[in-house]
Amino acid sequence: MYIQGFDGSWLDHPFWRTRFVIEKEKDLIRVRESAVDAVLIDDTLGVAPDQPPAPRKAADWQPPARPAAAVWRPQPVVAAPAQNFGSSYGRAARVFGKSKRAVSAMYADVRLGKAIKAEKLVPMVDEITSSIDENPRAFISIAQLKTRHEYTYLHSIAVCALMINLARELRFSEAAVRDAGMAGLLHDIGKALMPLEILDKPGELSEEEFDVIKTHPLRGHELLAKSSGVSHNALEVCLRHHERFDGQGYPDGLEGDRLSLFARMSALCDVYDAVTSERAYKRPWTPTETVARMREWTGHFDPEMFEIFVRSVGIYPVGALVRLKSGRAAVVIGENPEDPTRPPLYSMPDENNPEARRLEWDGDEIVGMESSESLSVENWEAQRTKLIRRVRS
Ligand SMILES: [Fe+2]
Ligand SMILES: [Fe+2]
Repeated sequence: MYIQGFDGSWLDHPFWRTRFVIEKEKDLIRVRESAVDAVLIDDTLGVAPDQPPAPRKAADWQPPARPAAAVWRPQPVVAAPAQNFGSSYGRAARVFGKSKRAVSAMYADVRLGKAIKAEKLVPMVDEITSSIDENPRAFISIAQLKTRHEYTYLHSIAVCALMINLARELRFSEAAVRDAGMAGLLHDIGKALMPLEILDKPGELSEEEFDVIKTHPLRGHELLAKSSGVSHNALEVCLRHHERFDGQGYPDGLEGDRLSLFARMSALCDVYDAVTSERAYKRPWTPTETVARMREWTGHFDPEMFEIFVRSVGIYPVGALVRLKSGRAAVVIGENPEDPTRPPLYSMPDENNPEARRLEWDGDEIVGMESSESLSVENWEAQRTKLIRRVRS
């Protein structure tokens, strides 16, 4: 079947191209499950080896079954092959492997009732920091690839890395960067005190089980309070990483400025890693998809911190409007797996340059996201769809 086009936003279907032959059943299923309203089919161009070609006639609109809820379906992020990262990827993998052994031993000790000596973890946090400084994408990409059995302690390493990366973006002092990393590493230590049958349960938790799991910030805080070398910020992150900016989180429902800077950072890093990881009950979301969805969860995160976080992980959703250091506004029109901080961009059309054009990376950099309202772009959705279609065809 030859697809001539999709009726609906480019966000509504998972294909890079809009004109192509569907040869595999799985692709047909992907079309059916997508949120597009209709598909334009040219039945003179399809591949049907066992049948004579149909006489040419006007293309038909065939509405596919619509899924219950239309969801954001971005292009899949292509994992960058190891060689693209070169030796920094190899070094990051070694640091990650070492950290994995140390953290799993720490969790095992806590399960046996031993206290934590956080000062012993400082060299590990410093090594992770060096790896992030060398190539943040390398370490963060490795930390995303965790199996569900190793989830809890690998998640701690991932949150440690994301906290360090965010602390760097916030221009923290060296001591505060280390503190942020340590806080990330220890934030879920209370999970070591949770029953394993709940922690490792395949499938979603019952309400009662979830109530038990919700005690992990408090249990962790109690443990860290009697451990050595744990800073005030690490204690705070352990207790507050499930609080929400709108006061709907737990354990205390603290809101806004009552949550410390470190607590607000940790809420973002924690959720980002949780949803980009594979869990027993869900597929991992791509980083791009994650950022897009997290942006929609109004009230959950500190909005200013959210934008800084997005910048720190360097993930810009296709179709996003961004502001460049040079002052120009641009549209993200694809992904760059080798360097997600520098995706392919098109300039925004304006009075002087009515035609959108491809921008070259000439020393400029993305400094933040833009809203279409702030640029007063008329009918932005339609313009964006048109532009992306033009670029991709
Ligand atoms: Fe947690
Ligand atoms: Fe967590």
